[in-house]
Order: sequence, then structure tokens, then C-alpha cells
Amino acid sequence: MGKVKLAPSLLNADFSDLRRALSFIEDTADAVHLDVMDGNFVPNITFGPLVVRAVRSITELPLDVHLMIANPAEYVEDFVEAGADWVSFHSEVTRYPGEILGLIRNLGRRPGLVINPQTPASRVFEYLDLVDFILVMTVMPGFGGQELLAEPLGKVREIKEEAARQGLQVEVEVDGGVKTENLPLVLESGADIVVVGSSIYRAPDPRQAAREIRRLLDP
Ligand code: DX5
Ligand code: ZN
Repeated sequence: MGKVKLAPSLLNADFSDLRRALSFIEDTADAVHLDVMDGNFVPNITFGPLVVRAVRSITELPLDVHLMIANPAEYVEDFVEAGADWVSFHSEVTRYPGEILGLIRNLGRRPGLVINPQTPASRVFEYLDLVDFILVMTVMPGFGGQELLAEPLGKVREIKEEAARQGLQVEVEVDGGVKTENLPLVLESGADIVVVGSSIYRAPDPRQAAREIRRLLDP
């Protein structure tokens, strides 16, 4: 069993001082999760390639860019150019995700496909050969600080079993509401990567909160 990766989300960090926000996670994170929202696919607007480029310039960590946008095909190249390493977009925005997954792969980055809580795991089965990872949402996308929905966690095992059946190596990432109290449940699901946002950045001591999560992830 490989090490479970930690991808802290900056969504609830203090954007007036991103250097400081990143300093809290540099010694515990495997990647930085960047939640891009367009106010169209989700009822919230966060940031675009400009901020990704800024974060790229102040950390060496891989950038895990989660595109909650209605037209990812139009912007993938901009986000890759800005420094995105892992690029995921929502299966709910297109009937044919294969083309966009191929574009991300051709740009030399790690393609990911995201499924919302109500989207069945089977939605991604035919694309498992085109992805590096699947992102399973355990909250409705749009806002940090929500309570984790446990039911979607069952999809982690479904996806991993289907990938094994197809003879593929696919990582499964869990995003939304993850915190120390429910981490055992998330780990039990078989997740390879966990996104943690508000339970780090809304903690009184974010560095300590990240270290506590890291300690629970490492056997
Ligand atoms: C929701 C976002 C958030 C974020 C993590 O659209 O995807 O889930 O990554 O935020 P927390 O950990 O606060 O749910
Ligand atoms: Zn996210």
C-alpha cells in the first residue's frame, strides 16, 4: 500500500498572503489543490490561470488543479501554461470527456475526471484508460467548509475494482469535508489522495492541523 497523498486546498486560505498559506503545508503536502470556479458550473467564482501562475512561482509542490468550470476544453491550455500539473474537470460538463483528457495528456500533464456526489462511479469506467486519477466529490462542488457526504465514498472501491479488472493503475482522490474526525472512514474507502481545505486553513494553527492530518495518513 503506497503512502496516501495529501493535497491541501487553498480555497479557505488567506489569499492576501499566499506565501504564508503555502508555508503552513510545505512540509506535509504532496500537492497543492487549487479549486477553480467559474460562477457558471458552480454558484461561486474563485480564480483563474493568473493565481495558478502566482502559486507556481512560490512553491515546488505539484499543482492539483480542480476545474469546476463549464467549458474546460477552452481553458486547459491556459492552466497548463500557468503551471498546473494535475488537471481535473467535471464529467458532468460534457458527454465526451475523452477529448479533453487526451488534450491534457498531450500537454504532458496528469489528466483527471471528477464525479459529483450524485454521479455514479460507472460514469467514468469507459475513460479509466485515459486518466491518471478520478476525483470523487464528497460534497457538492462550490464551497469549502461543508460536511463530508459518506455515501460517495463507496465509489472509491468501485472505481479501483473496475480499474483492476481493466488491468489499469488509477489513483482515486477524495475531495470535500475531509477532516481528522472522518479521516479513518476516508482511509477505509481506499482513497489514494485526500484533499483537505478548511480543516487546515480554518484551524487556529494551520501548520499543526496539517501535521496532525499527515500523522493520521502515515501508518
Ligand atoms: C468544493 C471544493 C472543496 C475543497 C476542499 O468545490 O472542491 O471541497 O476542495 O474544501 P473542504 O476541505 O473545506 O471541504
Ligand atoms: Zn476541489
